[in-house]
Amino acid sequence: MKKLIDKLHKTRGLEPAEFKELINNRCPELSEYLFAKARAVQTENYGQDVYIRGLIEFTNYCKNDCYYCGIRKSNVKAERYRLTKEQILQCCAMGYELGFRTFVLQGGEDGHYTDERMTDIIRAIKKNHPDCALTISIGEKSYDTYKAFFEAGADRYLLRHETANEEHYGRLHPQQMLLKNRKQCLYDLKKIGYQVGCGFMVGSPFQNTDCLVEDLMFLKELNPHMVGIGPFIPHHDTPFAGEKAGDLELVLFLIGIIRLLLPTVLLPATTALGTIYPEGRELGILAGGNVVMPNLSPKDVRKKYLLYDNKICTGDEAAECRHCLQGRIEKIGYKIAVTRGDHILLKGKT
Ligand code: 5AD
Ligand code: FES
Repeated sequence: MKKLIDKLHKTRGLEPAEFKELINNRCPELSEYLFAKARAVQTENYGQDVYIRGLIEFTNYCKNDCYYCGIRKSNVKAERYRLTKEQILQCCAMGYELGFRTFVLQGGEDGHYTDERMTDIIRAIKKNHPDCALTISIGEKSYDTYKAFFEAGADRYLLRHETANEEHYGRLHPQQMLLKNRKQCLYDLKKIGYQVGCGFMVGSPFQNTDCLVEDLMFLKELNPHMVGIGPFIPHHDTPFAGEKAGDLELVLFLIGIIRLLLPTVLLPATTALGTIYPEGRELGILAGGNVVMPNLSPKDVRKKYLLYDNKICTGDEAAECRHCLQGRIEKIGYKIAVTRGDHILLKGKT
């Protein structure tokens, strides 16, 4: 198996059957071998820097009904909220003081935020913070809408593909949602010029190794700037309430693989990873990750943006998370970088 890791390291890819073999034969010793290589590649490209993104969860209204997600429209128990433009700008101002140079506006697919409202918010943030990168993450939109956001100043877009296997996609989403559309969105975003992030959940119901292999092949094909992966975690008011959560070891193993597959990719150690295991984010960095995305949302709305149960940091202020993370990252020998944290091949471009 180490030979497969060597090949992946050298050629930045494997055949589907090889990926399958590697994933199915993982063990602690093999993981350590993989993580050491992944850390070396991470350090070659980004040194010991870990990039922070300030996450602002600005609406939990959503027109979609994904079976796994706590803010799906059928969840009548979710207490819905929206942040005003002023509240969003306040979050950014506070984040800037704390050393954030990039903000992620994330929300459900909420019709209240028309193109006009969104572009107005985007312009205002970029006007107040011209030295910051702005990421949008509000789901599937038309080419023209993505273009309008980009022209208003958005730099990056996150849209997880969730699973690259069509049948599996159909078992996680109602039939109006199509993998084909999601992939088209990702290609549109790249064409427009965004730094693009895709990603998937690990251990979602009905997922098998073949699905994960397809995810990896899709990553190689799309060649995104960012990849967000984390464990699936059940939410008590969804159809998947009784399912079991994704596995820590498998998430870490995939982070290591992705670091070798796409050496310069920006790869977060996600909040979900920190939720299934107390040091999950640290282990994510040590497996090849190089980004963390602490929450900048106002404290009183945090518990309402509950995609899954037991989400961490919902009772903490932004400043507390910022300092907590600094301690955690330094403890494992890395440091938080006060920069936009652009993809290495794009540095210098704004
Ligand atoms: N468990 C883990 N991740 C989830 N997401 C949504 N619901 C869950 C869940 N129950 C992830 C999806 C989405 C991102 C914002 O959060 O991958 O793209
Ligand atoms: Fe939020 Fe530790 S990162 S409290």
